[in-house]
Amino acid sequence: MAEVAASVDSDDRDVDRPRFGTRNLPHDGNVFQHNAWDNVTWDEEQEKLAQQKVNENSTITKLPEQLAQYETEADKYWDKFYGIHNNRFFKDRHWLLIEFPELAPNTVKRDTLRPMRAALTDEDESYGDRHIKILDLPCKDNCRILEIGCGVGNTVFPILMYNTDPKLFVYGCDFSAKAIDILQQNPAYDVDRCKAFVLDVTQETWMTPFEPESLDIIVLIFVLSAIHPDKMQHVLRQIYRYLKPGGIVLFRDYGRHDLAQLRFRLGSCIGENFYVHKDGTKVYFFSQEDVKKLFTSNGFIEEQNFVDRRLQVNRGKQLRMYRVWVQAKYRKPLTNHLT
Ligand SMILES: C[S@@+](CC[C@H](N)C(=O)[O-])C[C@H]1O[C@@H](n2cnc3c(N)ncnc32)[C@H](O)[C@@H]1O
Repeated sequence: MAEVAASVDSDDRDVDRPRFGTRNLPHDGNVFQHNAWDNVTWDEEQEKLAQQKVNENSTITKLPEQLAQYETEADKYWDKFYGIHNNRFFKDRHWLLIEFPELAPNTVKRDTLRPMRAALTDEDESYGDRHIKILDLPCKDNCRILEIGCGVGNTVFPILMYNTDPKLFVYGCDFSAKAIDILQQNPAYDVDRCKAFVLDVTQETWMTPFEPESLDIIVLIFVLSAIHPDKMQHVLRQIYRYLKPGGIVLFRDYGRHDLAQLRFRLGSCIGENFYVHKDGTKVYFFSQEDVKKLFTSNGFIEEQNFVDRRLQVNRGKQLRMYRVWVQAKYRKPLTNHLT
């Protein structure tokens, strides 16, 4: 990823995640009073200007052989990325355990939520109804989780840290052999509780250390956006195949008109809402409808799908940065509709 994009390309909530959806900008409030505001609404004018910006830079100028190379060499570009950044680019995503309590239901109970939340957020406010369903989660013990595109383990390690199920097993796959190597060198890599392996999920057949219909949860965190839109359907079909009936997919990724999308310059576009960074890694920006269609057309049942809009502020430079992410949960039905 280009250096200039680095500050916006990680999910910046890792850096500044103080209120979990509770810090709303009051009408005529001082926007520069805090570093970030949640649940920011965009008016029609702002949406229109963002779309104009996208249109200005949506001409595809790359040659067909260059476009083909981004696909055939995709894993090499990511190897190079991890060769440069090692485990320093993305931060551990501890907040995921709160957005997705399914990942550590035995830990995230009402009585233990407070200390854990305090540790993660340094705050002491009520969650409202966010944790109401926690005690009814299906995967309470003996849980088998797969993270696709696990990189160097920024999601895998927080799951291992907070989930206290002695029978938990976490798999992580990535097509970058370099990323898997770095992950396996981490002192927290415990072969009794996790296994990381190299897999390109766009391949027709998956070679996996688990059977079809054996996983309770599959995690997709900023990974589908790195895959060509034409290949996403195949990935979804495979995910459906490997999940147990009743299993769930947890998804969070870049949203349409996110600052990172608006910052791309002419020459970076390689498809509709799809771009290539200077280092050859790619990124797609999802609309809520894209996500819905992708999952429901492959037999999944929607449990959550929302656009998370956040305004980040650089107080020193008096800059406003509008971030957009899509977060969703989709469940494989207990009875198979796709046979
Ligand atoms: C933006 S990073 C996110 C890493 C990690 N999920 C996290 O949250 O920190 C995208 C990851 O997806 C991986 N990836 C991209 N395409 C893939 C594919 N076809 N198969 C497996 N992994 C892939 C990349 O190597 C990279 O590690």
